[in-house]
Amino acid sequence: MAQFSALLQPGRIGSLELRNRIIMSAMGTALADEKGRATERMVAYYAARARGGAALITPQFAAVSRDSAFAYTLPLFDDRHIAEWRKIADAVHQAGARFSIQLMHVGLILLYSGVVPEGASILVPSMASWMGQDRPYRELSEPDIERYIGDYVAAAARARAAGADMVELHACHGCLASSFLSPLINRRRDSYGGSVENRSRFARRIVEGIKRELGRGFPLSVRINGSDGIKGGTTPDEAEQQARILEAAGADAISISGGLEFWSTLSVPSYPYPEGPMVPMAETVRKGVRVPVIVAGKLSAEAADRAISEGKADFVAMGRPLLADPELPAKIREGRLDDLRRCIYCNNCLKSATDAAAGPMSCTVNPFVAREARYPLKPAGKARDIMVVGGGLAGMEMAMYLTERGHRVSLYEREKELGGQWNIACALPGKAGYAALTDYLKRWLARHGVKITLGTTVTGEMVLEKKPEAVVVATGAFPVGLPVPGVDLPHVIQGHDFIAGKAEAKGRVVVVGGRFIGMEVAIWLKEQGKDVTIVTRAGLGEDGIKLEEFTFKTLADRIVDLGIPMFLNSTVLEITDSAVVIPMKNRFFRIPADTVILSVGMRSENRLAAELEGSGIEVHLVGDCVRPRDAADVSYQAARLAASI
Ligand SMILES: Cc1cc2nc3c(=O)[nH]c(=O)nc-3n(C[C@H](O)[C@H](O)[C@H](O)COP(=O)(O)OP(=O)(O)OC[C@H]3O[C@@H](n4cnc5c(N)ncnc54)[C@H](O)[C@@H]3O)c2cc1C
Ligand SMILES: Cc1cc2nc3c(=O)[nH]c(=O)nc-3n(C[C@H](O)[C@H](O)[C@H](O)COP(=O)(O)O)c2cc1C
Ligand code: SF4
Repeated sequence: MAQFSALLQPGRIGSLELRNRIIMSAMGTALADEKGRATERMVAYYAARARGGAALITPQFAAVSRDSAFAYTLPLFDDRHIAEWRKIADAVHQAGARFSIQLMHVGLILLYSGVVPEGASILVPSMASWMGQDRPYRELSEPDIERYIGDYVAAAARARAAGADMVELHACHGCLASSFLSPLINRRRDSYGGSVENRSRFARRIVEGIKRELGRGFPLSVRINGSDGIKGGTTPDEAEQQARILEAAGADAISISGGLEFWSTLSVPSYPYPEGPMVPMAETVRKGVRVPVIVAGKLSAEAADRAISEGKADFVAMGRPLLADPELPAKIREGRLDDLRRCIYCNNCLKSATDAAAGPMSCTVNPFVAREARYPLKPAGKARDIMVVGGGLAGMEMAMYLTERGHRVSLYEREKELGGQWNIACALPGKAGYAALTDYLKRWLARHGVKITLGTTVTGEMVLEKKPEAVVVATGAFPVGLPVPGVDLPHVIQGHDFIAGKAEAKGRVVVVGGRFIGMEVAIWLKEQGKDVTIVTRAGLGEDGIKLEEFTFKTLADRIVDLGIPMFLNSTVLEITDSAVVIPMKNRFFRIPADTVILSVGMRSENRLAAELEGSGIEVHLVGDCVRPRDAADVSYQAARLAASI
């Protein structure tokens, strides 16, 4: 059988014919305007994924009730919202895909968003001791339940009026319908709590209501958790029972996801997770129902094809892979795998997606996500000779976009290999997949004949000699030390050097720094059976810009599971031959250490930029040499700068 033939075969959900088995899963964005209207940017973002070949596009969730609406999203609790959704529906249809709207009441997901809008309550099926007084939890009464079921049904009717070919009931991740399903959260004692039949009643009645209102022929899927990902929560076997109840109520497909966003990290599995963690759950559920089963979660095109060809699921719901490359379906159909921008599951998108204040969503491997109108870049008015110094992500991407615009680019790198810090990142366990990005960039540069000089440290003098029409400085950043006595002792090494295999960790190890790299190094050492302790001057993951929550929690949970000792809020005072010294109350405390690994931040490498100042040459700076940052930010800055030269 040809590769991807299972994934690319047509399929059907109820009466809805789909051109292949790829569904774009619902992903919250902050692309609507402040009044909750669809923006051109939002419409273009979905249209691009429809043009790229996905069979069914499910945009961001639609809030079914006024008290569930988030800022900068499209709600569906009033008829006036229909016209906004129709703009997306029309664009998706014109681009050849079908269109589904996901209906949601946020419920406990408000905890993940961290912001409870003024006057709103966090709706729950039942109160629990962990629900603190500091937040406005509210247990639903039976009249409330009736009212909210009515809201879902009314929103489904609006979805159809807006042009939806299908609706999806969001009943996973801890939203209202999902918290009723979860044995961990739902402790009601009435007919909506207790047995699996009772806990399914809220979702079941919504399904029945929608079917009654829209007719049995209107397709409806229900997205449930194959596992809550936490002890005492929904298990795959229980999910199979829930699925059977929902199928009997009229669901035309069961979509399997997982996790409770505020507790467990399965809903958006980042790089530490294995591929396809929810496929076994879908397989269990599929044994119990006759309707198609959809599965999501960290599925490459190859893994998605396997899940379908092996009969573990009927459709895949892809999220991030379609952010990374909207043309994924078309590229796999045409055998253009070398051209595929593969998602690396870094979760940088998640950090930006739901925060309008942070600017539009960004993606490490695709800086044009949510900026579709800006791609392809316009050809340069005049082709120029441009020297790019530094072959890390920033330099490689600059070289690619400048070449794409028609400039003549020469790229210089000090090391014998392109990649810069990214190569170190790839050496971490779990991050080997990150190499897909540098591999893609290397292939592109080679294919387009970009002149690359390796093993050459560029100086100001060299630039003046070569006389380029412009120079792009992309010299990156280097790890900093600590301003304490003992930092130069031979057993004090940098995390970067340890990861890159340039320095060894012997005996008892103290890792100084509690952000991602410190956490990752400590986990790696502990998994090798080493004695390791973390010391950090703030809380774990604090001290600096906010870390992406899902990846942070995944790593933090692992640290706790492995029992790695941590000294939090502890500033290192001194490093001796055999210990790291920290303050404790009014005393000093010695943590024994044969090796000390520093992971305490980065500083921009801008010597070349300083040398070129006042030289009369046009100089541009990009990437970590401007300020250390995450890779999505590097990509975005490179694309924006390249468009302006
Ligand atoms: C272990 C690790 C894990 C990471 N994990 C993540 C992650 O999960 N997610 C994320 O978003 N980011 C991550 N990062 C950060 C990310 O790798 C960087 O933000 C990004 O790679 C910076 O790219 P850059 O091109 O600006 O700089 P660099 O990668 O530092 O590249 C600069 C390049 O310039 C070269 N150079 C310097 N001076 C000269 C000169 N004079 N002449 C010629 N060449 C020169 C250097 O050799 C280097 O190759 C991680 C970084 C590390 C080290
Ligand atoms: C930015 C972002 C927002 C998301 N918002 C939603 C949502 O509103 N509803 C939902 O059911 N899932 C949401 N998800 C989960 C995705 O639909 C998907 O199930 C998850 O990302 C795993 O699939 P993937 O590995 O293909 O990305 C979101 C994921 C991301 C990355
Ligand atoms: S930001 Fe990272 S996780 Fe998100 S789509 Fe892009 S590559 Fe994938």
